[in-house]
Amino acid sequence: MSHTKLRKGIIETCLEMNRSGLNQGTSGNVSHRIDGGMLITPTSLPYAQMKPADIVAMNFDGTYSGHRLPSSEWRFHRDILKNRTDVNIVLHTHSVYCTTLATHERGIPSFHYMVAVAGGSDIRCSDYACFGTQELSDTALKALEGRTACLLGHHGLIVLADTFEKALWRAHEIETLAKMYVHALAIGEPPRLSEVEMNQVIEQMRRMSYGQTPDLESAADRPRPAKPSKKKAAKKSPAKKTTKRTKH
Ligand code: 13P
Repeated sequence: MSHTKLRKGIIETCLEMNRSGLNQGTSGNVSHRIDGGMLITPTSLPYAQMKPADIVAMNFDGTYSGHRLPSSEWRFHRDILKNRTDVNIVLHTHSVYCTTLATHERGIPSFHYMVAVAGGSDIRCSDYACFGTQELSDTALKALEGRTACLLGHHGLIVLADTFEKALWRAHEIETLAKMYVHALAIGEPPRLSEVEMNQVIEQMRRMSYGQTPDLESAADRPRPAKPSKKKAAKKSPAKKTTKRTKH
């Protein structure tokens, strides 16, 4: 994808985060991998005002070009994209329910099978570290080990993905899980699915390409499409229609 398309994709993703209630104001930030670095949202600029030229191009060595300062969280975006070659996008939000749990330094355990959308049997919460610091980046990377999402202690949520669509989908799913978990906690700590049960879910999701627009060629476990009946196929045949038309 061209850099212009990526810049537009970043802005559209930020606007959608706010439109859909995943984020508010200028909290949150989004980056996308490019050769040797990343494109990242500028710091403190309202999304509605953001133009493609405001998106900052940064090298992995921390140097940048453009007329805006990069997000204050460029360190964790940089470190994640450098270390996690399995993803292209880092999305960060202060979504309400994830942040509610994170204020209690609680992650999301295996209370519901959908927790597996982050790649494992739980979604961890990182230790607290001040925003914009290397300490925050280090603790976030640790919490993301083997996962495509983590909560940030007393802060918010980080989601990783390979496309903008998947990043938004995953963020919504995790925010919904956090909401369900907060509600479930109102009547006590819910029982958890076991490691064996969660492994079965993870394997099932992998086989079904679950939650992604299915790639029909590669989905290993899918129902077979029905063959059209001969009668129906004959009725629909364009050859017959042509014959009919020529009769008149
Ligand atoms: P920026 O505007 O610098 O990206 O900061 C927002 C934020 O969420 C900090 O964690």
